[in-house]
Amino acid sequence: MYQYTLAIHIIFVVSWMAGLFYIVRLFIYHTEANEKPEPERTILQKQFIIMESKLWNIITTPAMIIAVAAGMRMLQLNPGLLETDWMWVKLAFVAGLLIYHFICQNIISQLKRGRFWMTSTQLRLWNELATIFLVAIVFTVILKSAIDWLYGLLGLTVFAVIIMLAVKLYKRAREKQLK
Ligand code: HEM
Repeated sequence: MYQYTLAIHIIFVVSWMAGLFYIVRLFIYHTEANEKPEPERTILQKQFIIMESKLWNIITTPAMIIAVAAGMRMLQLNPGLLETDWMWVKLAFVAGLLIYHFICQNIISQLKRGRFWMTSTQLRLWNELATIFLVAIVFTVILKSAIDWLYGLLGLTVFAVIIMLAVKLYKRAREKQLK
């Protein structure tokens, strides 16, 4: 029973993360469509609204619910895990990922109403935040108590800085290209 639940947990964690990565890509293209002339802009943005709501309601949200439910079920079957520090660190990162999920849900409804409060570069940085959560959660749950928190946090910070620099460099190269 536990192993089956763990397998379901990992399958839907992967689907949830895939949905989160793809939805923000759609936000980026949806926002960049603003730079297009009419009628191209309206045609593109109407299409992105359809794609965003289908991805969100058919894949991302159901996957999140099943991943969390399977995780909770495993905690019910193995409550001893709640006496470990690594599970609480993991759940703290998961709480961050859930907040990230619901902010994305808010962005969907803002874009549907034609409100663009993040630039495409800000959205590219936002996209990388999901990567940082994924790296933090997987290292915590695989290394468990063997993890060295100091090196772990240091590694995560360096990883975050490298990712943000990469996005900035990409933006500069793209601007040069468009000139
Ligand atoms: C509220 C949400 C979640 C809960 C309650 C939860 C709980 C759990 C539990 C109890 C296990 C089994 C640990 C063990 O038996 O050693 C587990 C395994 C795992 N979880 Fe989660 N989890 C949650 C969300 C996530 C998320 C968001 C990710 C990744 C982004 C994730 C990735 C994993 C992985 C990779 C394993 C397998 C670890 C192993 O095989 O040693 N979990 N989770």
